[in-house]
Amino acid sequence: MPATLLTETLVADMLKEQIDVTKLPQHIAIIMDGNGRWAKSQGKHRVFGHKNGVQAVREASEACAEIGVPYLTLYAFSTENWNRPKTEVSALMELLILTIGREVKTLQKNNIRLNAIGQLDLLPDSCKKALDKAIRETSANTRMTLTLALSYSSRVEITDMVKSIAEKVKNNELNPSDITPEIVHNHLYTHDLPDPELLIRTSGETRISNFLLWQIAYAELCFIEKYWPDFSREDLYAAICEFQNRERRFGMTSEQILSE
Ligand code: IPE
Ligand code: IPE
Ligand code: MG
Repeated sequence: MPATLLTETLVADMLKEQIDVTKLPQHIAIIMDGNGRWAKSQGKHRVFGHKNGVQAVREASEACAEIGVPYLTLYAFSTENWNRPKTEVSALMELLILTIGREVKTLQKNNIRLNAIGQLDLLPDSCKKALDKAIRETSANTRMTLTLALSYSSRVEITDMVKSIAEKVKNNELNPSDITPEIVHNHLYTHDLPDPELLIRTSGETRISNFLLWQIAYAELCFIEKYWPDFSREDLYAAICEFQNRERRFGMTSEQILSE
């Protein structure tokens, strides 16, 4: 094993040992950002960065499943990303089809269920088919739910939620005074997922870019400088350690939290 890889593995093991597995975030969400800049820094085309981002997806998924995080959500393509140059969008869609096809076996082996949120009907047919097939084939897996946010916009998700609730009110199935945050949650794309407790964004950008706006109300945010293709287990474990060292107060005082 090369020396740098050996050091990385040792650091990852050390960090892993510091994690209290009884206090894991139940849902981690990641904004996988920086593929383009990673490629550019090596004088390569942006698509080269996307291709190299796949390995980091694998690392993050396996590390989460291994340690016992039950839900992982990855922001892979936003509604706004449709506005990128046509060639980049096509390359991303092709990469998605190829990766889903290739990774189903690993998902099965690792007992991971694949799930997707977003305006999936906007995806090309071949992409939608590959995704549906992988979701169907992994639907009985129980170790972890891996959700891909594809063609995803949180504002569109919230708008869709409002439309479906309005429809129920119109049909007298629901009284406006009975609408609660729980009812809102039940009408989001993520109705079957707990809210993320930890949100990670790579690439040094410190913004949310229209991702899970409702769901991250009380998530701990962790911004990492590295570009996504360089993200490794070590970074995931470090983020979980940081999460566990934070005091989550949910509006209460520190004294209240400590006396609990
Ligand atoms: C994230 O990397 C991948 C997608 C948004 C599809 P970017 O492609 O945004 O890379 P940068 O941020 O331009 O470096
Ligand atoms: C957010 O990254 C979307 C994904 C990671 C899929 P962007 O690169 O699209 O976000 P902005 O444009 O920098 O905010
Ligand atoms: Mg970006």
